[in-house]
Amino acid sequence: MYKQIIRPLLFCLSAENAHKLIIGALRLVGCIPGSNWLMEKICTIKHPALEREVFGVKFKNPIGIAAGLDKNAEVYNEFSALGYGFVEVGTITPKGQPGNPRPRLFRLPKDKAIINRMGFNNHGMQNAIENLHKRRKGVVVGANIGKNSLTPIEEAPSDYLKLFRNLYQYVDYFVVNVSCPNVAKVTSLQNKQSVTEILEPLFEFRRGQSQYRPILLKISPDLDDASVDDMTDVMIETPLDGIVATNTTTSRAGLTTSAKSIEAIGNGGLSGAPLTKRAVEVVRRVHTRCQGRYPIIGVGGVMTVEDAKAMLDAGASLVQVYSGMIYNGPAFVRQICKQLIADHEAAKATATTEQKAE
Ligand code: FNR
Repeated sequence: MYKQIIRPLLFCLSAENAHKLIIGALRLVGCIPGSNWLMEKICTIKHPALEREVFGVKFKNPIGIAAGLDKNAEVYNEFSALGYGFVEVGTITPKGQPGNPRPRLFRLPKDKAIINRMGFNNHGMQNAIENLHKRRKGVVVGANIGKNSLTPIEEAPSDYLKLFRNLYQYVDYFVVNVSCPNVAKVTSLQNKQSVTEILEPLFEFRRGQSQYRPILLKISPDLDDASVDDMTDVMIETPLDGIVATNTTTSRAGLTTSAKSIEAIGNGGLSGAPLTKRAVEVVRRVHTRCQGRYPIIGVGGVMTVEDAKAMLDAGASLVQVYSGMIYNGPAFVRQICKQLIADHEAAKATATTEQKAE
C-alpha cells in the first residue's frame, strides 16, 4: 500500500513538506492514548534471533532509524512502536538553529536517492530534553550531537561537551557527528587531533558518572582509506566505543538523474542507493582494522533486505535506515526482520542436519 498509494501522494509534496507531514502524523498518532501500545502489538516482530546486546545496550532488533529523521526527538516512541529497534535522534545542537535556506531537500527517484543540505536545523538541546522525558519503557534512543553553525570551529569541543553533559541522563548512547557535509568545516574535524580534542572531555565527564553511556563517532564515506584507518585507530587507542559508518556523500558519481537536474539541485549530501557500495566498504574496512572487536553501526544505502544483510556481513552489529524508509515505507523494518529470522531458522536447520549426519 505504501508504494502504490502513500508514496505517490507524499512525492507530490515537496520533500521537506512530506517530511513534516510524516513527523506531524506520527505525533498525532502518538497523542492518542494506547496508540503506541497498539501499533507495537501490530507492527513489532519479536524473536530471540533478532535480539542484540551491543555496547552494553539491549536492542529488540538490529534495525534502527538513522539521524536526521527525528531531529527534535519528537517521534522516537512512534518509530519504536512501528518496529524499529532503536532511534538516533538529532543532530541536536546546543542552541536551536534554522539550518540552511530552502529548498534544501531533494528526491532523486530514478536513483532511489536523496540530496539534502539541511544544515543541522533543530530546536536545540533544551527542547530535545523536554521531548526525551516522554520516552516509553524499552525504547532505545541515541543522541546524535553536533556543533552550532555559528560556533567557531576551534570552539567545537565545548559545544559537544555541553550537549553530552546535558543529554547524558536522557539517552542510551551518543554519536559525535563530525561528518555532516552541510555545515561549514565540520568534516574537517575528521582528523586524529581534532577528534581527540572533542572526545577527551567527553571521556573525562563520563569517568565521573555512575552510569555508562557509549560514545560513537559518525564518519563520512568521502574519507580516503588512510583517514578511515585513522578514525578506527582513535577507537582502538581511546575509550571510544564504536563507529557509525557512514554519513551522506558529496560525490555524484554513477547517478542516472540528468546532469542538468543534479546541477540545478546544487550542494548537499547524497544518500540512498548510490551510497550502498561505499558505505559497506567503509564498514568492512573498519571491521577488519579493529579485528571485529568494536561495534559498528552500518548506515548508508540500505534500500533492500539484501543491503541490510550485506551491512551485517561486512561487520556491522547494528544497521540504520533513512532513505530506505522513505522509498520502502515504514514496514521496511518488518521485511528485514522477517528475513533475518528466516535466515536464522535455516542456519539452525542446517546445523541440526549436519549434527545428525555426524
Ligand atoms: C541525514 N543524515 C544525517 N546524519 C546525521 O548524522 N545528522 C543529521 O542531522 C542528518 N540529517 C539528515 C537529513 C536528511 C534529509 C538525510 C537524507 C540524511 C544522514 C543519515 O543519518 C544517513 O547517515 C545517510 O542518509 C545515509 O543513510 P541512507 O539515507 O542512505 O539510509
